[in-house]
Amino acid sequence: MALRRPPVLLGRAGERQVLDRVLENVRGGQSAVLVVRGEAGVGKTALLRYCARQASGFRVARIAGVESEMELPFAGLHQLCAPMLGRLAALPEPQQAALGVALGLSSGPPPDRFLVGLATLSLLAEVASERPLLCFVDDAQWLDVATRQVLGFVARRLLAESVAFVFAVRDSTDESELVGLPELLLGGLPDEDARALLASGIGARLDGRVRDRLVEETRGNPLAILELPRGLAATQLPGGLGLLEDHALPRRIEESFRRRLEALAEEPRRLLLLVAAEPVDDPLLVWRAAERLGIGPSAADETEGLLAIGESVAFLHPLVRSAVYRSAAPPERRAVHRALAEVTDAGADADRRAWHLAAAAAGPDEEVASELERSAGRAQARGGLAAAAAFLRRSVALTRDPARRTDRALAAAQASLHAGAFEAALALLAAAEAGPLDALERARVDLLHAEVAYAQNRGSDAPLLLLRAAGRLETLDVRLARDTYLDAWSAALFAGQLASAGSLLDVSRAVRAAPHPEPPPHPSDLLLDGFALVFTEGRLSATPVLRRAATAFAGTEVSVAEVLRWGWLATAAAVYVWDYDTCLAVATREVRIARDAGALEVLAVGVNVLGQAAALGGDFGRAALLVAEADAVTEATGARVAPYAALVLAAFRGQEPVGSKLIDATIAEATAGGQGTAVQYAHWANAVLMNSLGRYEEALPAAVAASDDTPELFVATWALSELIEAASRTGNPELAAGALDRLLDSANASATDWGLGIAARSRALLSEGDAAEGLYREAIDRLSLTRLRPELARSHLLYGEWLRRVGRRVDAREQLRTAHELLAAIGTEAFAERARRELVATGEKVRKRAVEARDELTPQEDQIARLARDGLSNPEIGARLFLSPRTVEWHLGKVFTKLGISSRMGLHDALPSPDQEAARA
Ligand SMILES: Nc1ncnc2c1ncn2[C@@H]1O[C@H](COP(=O)(O)OP(=O)(O)OP(=O)(O)O)[C@@H](O)[C@H]1O
Ligand SMILES: [Mg+2]
Repeated sequence: MALRRPPVLLGRAGERQVLDRVLENVRGGQSAVLVVRGEAGVGKTALLRYCARQASGFRVARIAGVESEMELPFAGLHQLCAPMLGRLAALPEPQQAALGVALGLSSGPPPDRFLVGLATLSLLAEVASERPLLCFVDDAQWLDVATRQVLGFVARRLLAESVAFVFAVRDSTDESELVGLPELLLGGLPDEDARALLASGIGARLDGRVRDRLVEETRGNPLAILELPRGLAATQLPGGLGLLEDHALPRRIEESFRRRLEALAEEPRRLLLLVAAEPVDDPLLVWRAAERLGIGPSAADETEGLLAIGESVAFLHPLVRSAVYRSAAPPERRAVHRALAEVTDAGADADRRAWHLAAAAAGPDEEVASELERSAGRAQARGGLAAAAAFLRRSVALTRDPARRTDRALAAAQASLHAGAFEAALALLAAAEAGPLDALERARVDLLHAEVAYAQNRGSDAPLLLLRAAGRLETLDVRLARDTYLDAWSAALFAGQLASAGSLLDVSRAVRAAPHPEPPPHPSDLLLDGFALVFTEGRLSATPVLRRAATAFAGTEVSVAEVLRWGWLATAAAVYVWDYDTCLAVATREVRIARDAGALEVLAVGVNVLGQAAALGGDFGRAALLVAEADAVTEATGARVAPYAALVLAAFRGQEPVGSKLIDATIAEATAGGQGTAVQYAHWANAVLMNSLGRYEEALPAAVAASDDTPELFVATWALSELIEAASRTGNPELAAGALDRLLDSANASATDWGLGIAARSRALLSEGDAAEGLYREAIDRLSLTRLRPELARSHLLYGEWLRRVGRRVDAREQLRTAHELLAAIGTEAFAERARRELVATGEKVRKRAVEARDELTPQEDQIARLARDGLSNPEIGARLFLSPRTVEWHLGKVFTKLGISSRMGLHDALPSPDQEAARA
């Protein structure tokens, strides 16, 4: 006995067209997403039904959120995916595992939510490869948070899968997950359609004036048009309008439903309440609970059409559910929840049962509270962090014992933090602070406060808060205190010079004064001690410690968890001691581990570090791939990581005006976000770029800015060599001399070929005669023992420039030719051009390098083409770039067309391998 009204849709011509176009696009092999937004009762669901009727040839999947305080992890996603799980085996293994755990099908480590998103995308694409797939997500405002996050992620990444997603959502809510997707705003019906609807609803009983007033007051809201006249007694109709004018329309409709409820008999009313309290659409369950409450089956026929129970359970409209639940007295509600708990399976549906028990509790109840705690644990194990937080919050409310209450409030705050619910986390911390706290709990409160600040914004006052928390922990738990200090250091490093308080120096001093753990030190202890020494004792004492730390992180004695948490700090330690190979090894390991674990926030930092290393090594092709991956992962996760790799690549490539734009944008954004180190990086990148272009007057201030701001950091040291180059070309010897002293300190402390090579080159720039020549040669010798090809090439360039100035034209040509060839081969365009100009000045004729012929490919196409050439399958490429394999295939199709080839095989010839690229240039 369906309640569905006859499928007549009045008006809405424009809206129908939009939906028709969605279907048309999908039939044509594209994907489409639409969010239909509008107030309650305005006709969103009706439009979705229209769309379903038009969707012949589609496979249709429908899910709907249900208004309920209950938060069950991935409940909506389960509804969506359950019928498709036959295809799960087609997904890459890590995605299968992630989705399996999220949906509670298998156990495993809690999956990263973005990996669950990617798995869902792949699954939908796989299903849609048979025939187009249309997914309706009605009442999206009531979906569980985990599902909304996943679907928002999927919707943003659909392109060529033949999947349509149509969401319906109330406009009064702001689900950030859906913000920015294409929208259709639904307003009321135009007067004429509204009048027609009114006539169809209550017929000819109304006179024209009343009818017009009704249409006006309802502003064309179809549900209001159908419902309000019904809610008012016939006698009230003419005069009763406008009585409730001061209320928003949905409230008025709800009140109207409430009046209809009041007219019902006791039994059907309690049946309605029972159904309203249960989010799962399960008629059998409802009847079993009804029996316990002494409600007979006939009650369903006495609800005046407000409720229908057949194969499924359906209210006339979702507002009936709110009206029923909200108007019920608390004891009535508790009674139905108790009945529902009694009939809910304690094994299979333990979490739902726990929630009903909680709602049935009249006051604190330890048994139920600990039941909820267990539910939270299960939710957490599935990656359902929002649900875990919700269970724990409820558990807090039911806990009487003050100590336990504090404990649970802290756990709930932690879960809320991890779920990204920062406000909730802060509220729980306040609740915890209101109770009695022992010293360790006090410290945990501080730590959580700090972590919330860090998660909200890396550059904020997180370092200070972490520092305080670490200090409090010192006497309670040395290990935890040390770990917290390292996190504080990490936060302070992001903030750099912009840290308000809790600077790198503050953290370092505190670390030096803090108690030491039992020997032997962990690699993380070495990291912490080494960094602290940099700022307190100086680089001579710091260098050996940091070198040991970095080397340890490159090996296997460091656990996966430690690499994920501090790997990037170890790469910073490696470059601090001028150890490129170790930096590369740690970054490579970190990225591999982060990819395998699906730890995407870590990956966002890791690919940035690895991309920088690739650029410094002169492997620009690989660097570009990593930059693109960094873009994809930061975009997908919203991680706030500055574009470090892109900056290094742009600086060395010497592409203008692209490089300057990136640098300016980074300075602006990082300054606003309090990420001081990114600002410093951008200044350094600017110095390199300006030097490459021969614009030394502009390079100089940039290099000064980068080397002055937090002078202890390696970026500052790198900037010194740029400063010396610019100063020596602009006649600023005194500036250069000071910089040289600092550079030598750093290079001599580490004594690696990289550092000593750069130092020799910089000294050469400030020397004359044989001394200069010997130093240039030393620089070239040393750097040719490293992988830092761009720096080697630059040394040939500077040597050649010097030779030309001292009149040794033939020798100059030899160096400049080598420099030009190397620089052009690497792709350092501006430096290559600088070498070419110098060569021409020696009298040699040099062709400008031909512009590469491949630039018709978009950056994304280029990247996909290179990955395909390197042998990655479409799913593998998709996993790297957060796209479905179908979308990868679609991009590849475009690549083939543009390159005039017909298969992946052709890519090898159409796109030169990195070696060939080098050889050709
Ligand atoms: N264009 C229309 N022509 C005829 N009837 C309509 C039209 N639009 C909506 N209705 C009817 O109005 C009522 C409310 O519409 P609907 O349930 O689609 O609203 P909604 O926007 O989905 O509301 P909610 O946000 O509460 O889910 C339904 O009975 C529906 O059949
Ligand atoms: Mg609806």
